[in-house]
Amino acid sequence: MKKIIRCGIGLLLLSSLASCSQSKSGDGAMDAYVDKLMSQMTLEEKLGQLNLPASDDIVTGQAQNSNIGQMVAAGKVGGVFNIKGAEKIRELQRVAVEESRLGIPLIFGMDVIHGYETVFPIPLALSCSWDTVAIKNSARIAAIEASASGICWTFSPMVDICRDPRWGRASEGSGEDPFLGAAIARVMVEGYQGNLQENNEIMACVKHFALYGAPEGGRDYNTVDMSRQRMFNEYFAPYKAGADAGAGSFMTSFNTIDGIPATANKWLLTDVLRGMWGWNGFIVTDYTAIAEMIDHGLGDLQTVSALALKAGTDMDMVADGFNGTLAKSLDEGLVNLGQIDAAVRRILEAKYKLGLFEDPYKFISPEREKTEVYTSAHREEARKIATETFVLLKNEGNLLPLDKKGRIAVIGPLANTRANMPGTWSVAADPNKYKTLVEGIRDAVGDKATVTYAKGSNLTLDAELEANATMFGREMRDNRSEDVMLAEALSVARNSDVIIAALGESSEFSGESSSRSDINLPETQMKLLKALLSTGKPVVMLNFSGRPTIMSWESENVPAILNVWFGGSEAADAIADVVFGEVSPSGKLTMSMPRNMGQIPVYYNHLNTGRPKTQDEKFEKFRSGYIDSQNSPLYPFGYGLSYTTFEYSDMALSAEEMTENDIIKACVKVTNTGSRDADEVVQMYIRDIVGSSSRPVKELKGFQRISLKAGESKVVEFSISVDLLKYYNYDLEYVAEPGEFTVMLGGDSDNVKSLNFTLK
Ligand code: BGC
Repeated sequence: MKKIIRCGIGLLLLSSLASCSQSKSGDGAMDAYVDKLMSQMTLEEKLGQLNLPASDDIVTGQAQNSNIGQMVAAGKVGGVFNIKGAEKIRELQRVAVEESRLGIPLIFGMDVIHGYETVFPIPLALSCSWDTVAIKNSARIAAIEASASGICWTFSPMVDICRDPRWGRASEGSGEDPFLGAAIARVMVEGYQGNLQENNEIMACVKHFALYGAPEGGRDYNTVDMSRQRMFNEYFAPYKAGADAGAGSFMTSFNTIDGIPATANKWLLTDVLRGMWGWNGFIVTDYTAIAEMIDHGLGDLQTVSALALKAGTDMDMVADGFNGTLAKSLDEGLVNLGQIDAAVRRILEAKYKLGLFEDPYKFISPEREKTEVYTSAHREEARKIATETFVLLKNEGNLLPLDKKGRIAVIGPLANTRANMPGTWSVAADPNKYKTLVEGIRDAVGDKATVTYAKGSNLTLDAELEANATMFGREMRDNRSEDVMLAEALSVARNSDVIIAALGESSEFSGESSSRSDINLPETQMKLLKALLSTGKPVVMLNFSGRPTIMSWESENVPAILNVWFGGSEAADAIADVVFGEVSPSGKLTMSMPRNMGQIPVYYNHLNTGRPKTQDEKFEKFRSGYIDSQNSPLYPFGYGLSYTTFEYSDMALSAEEMTENDIIKACVKVTNTGSRDADEVVQMYIRDIVGSSSRPVKELKGFQRISLKAGESKVVEFSISVDLLKYYNYDLEYVAEPGEFTVMLGGDSDNVKSLNFTLK
């Protein structure tokens, strides 16, 4: 029997510690303020605080038909979301403060997911930078811009781990890895919130709690059924990191978890989040999530609203379940006043912490809105980080970077679209201000080269699919026939020296309710690509995507492939920076890129099985594999090329044994062996070789982004403490189990050097 090193509290179900009864914060001044206010509130006013309607300024769900102004005046609203503009927000706040009986200020929320008007790359792309400093700064800038218009609460970070690229919302998260996901969750909360003191520090909302990224079949909103051990080891870390970083709020997810919708899941909201993790913010539902429990089959609106409140939900987004039914439920004994008061208290505490009782207009500044939104400094930052997010998948014969000379043809359905550049969930974006790729390329080359353009094809031949995926008017379908468009593209291509093919998805091919059952390049674009290659001209493929896509044919046949995701408001300039070599690409995949649909889900930190293959390239009878595919992805987690090359050598460990109080240093020498200065993301993986449960073949446990001049070497060092070796065992105890471990260091999850040590 192994000796187990335990740390912290065991994972007992601590529901008693975090019941729904009212517990005060311990901040004397705040408690006294909230006590006094609550003593004056009617039941109706209390329920009003739990109500979060959407304005129809920005549409992110089924529209709501309520007169928000009148409801606010009647004290029936706690916050409002989806309004853009300082003046509009100021007026609604005025109504709350001057016309409602108690003058309680509203909180104003918005989906500021990857920037406000200065739009950063989509979160999946941001994660591929592995640059937590820059990611934190992106959140900081988003907070500065959003707060100027009066937004004090963002529905971000979205931290759902996702291993299934069919799921459209893979675009909104940080990929498949819990360690990286946790690091990003932490810095985003810090970036938005700072100390929650200044008028440009806004409240974060960690979402979607929980496991929203693991729906069956990759279909949005679908069922999640998972072992608790897997939840804790593979999915929960980013949520916990957000909680530990002090996020002011959490949002429930739409899905069921082991049969219980998250919004009514007391184990999740109260036992885990509040009890086990000791978090004390407020919980808002996702859009109409309470009412959706009727369709989940849990009862009528009154029943499900009571269930949500009792589970630990505090605020009802759009469903009107709390406002509409809790008074009746109180009368009938379905809920008690203590449960209502606990939720009201958490909302009022949030408003207090934001400083809204002191100054309800704190975050509203038409002046700042003019001077601090979409500034050149913010745009510069967005452009810089965008260059770090692109992943160079292939670069045969060093085709990239291109010279700024000759005739450059930019061809493809994504080449000349402005509105697609920012990517999904950029609700405050002003696409008219952003450049198309063609404009970015033209600006970059100036008069040194000629740039020609042809669309070449629509996104797909299926007009209905294309319309569904371009709902927010972000793409114009070309009414010409496929043949006519192709002929035009071929004539442009033949008159060029090099072709940049801008292919892939439109921004709304990913995002909410944009799951895809086929993530290959659509047929018409494949036809275009093949035609372009047939000209014999060198082709650089830029793959626009909100998720990993399948590019098996492309990787065999196209000389250079740069995955550019959706790079935000400055994407066009940033792409030009990388294409022409002002910056060497340094992005590394945070989700594995599959070879084919059938092997999904494919992820690097899988278990070994009892019959692992010995050689992935070949079929092996009676081993875990496919007769028609390799197991490995086309491009693994952590993968990404550069314009230079890096050599890893001299890996060493400071010791071969450690106890629970020791630290082992793992180091490796990284040399830039090419002729360009560049950044590299050095990654550390660890494998727990023998455990009381089966353990993954490797898990990310450290990473560092370093800059190396051509020819330069650096020794990169990681510290391994016992904490990095812990996991949740079958009894959900957080333990490090003595025995042998392998440390792996390298430039991607598949390409590592390794050494072993023993934990005594
Ligand atoms: C999404 C959330 C979002 C909310 C408010 C929902 O449909 O799932 O991520 O924050 O709408 O717009």
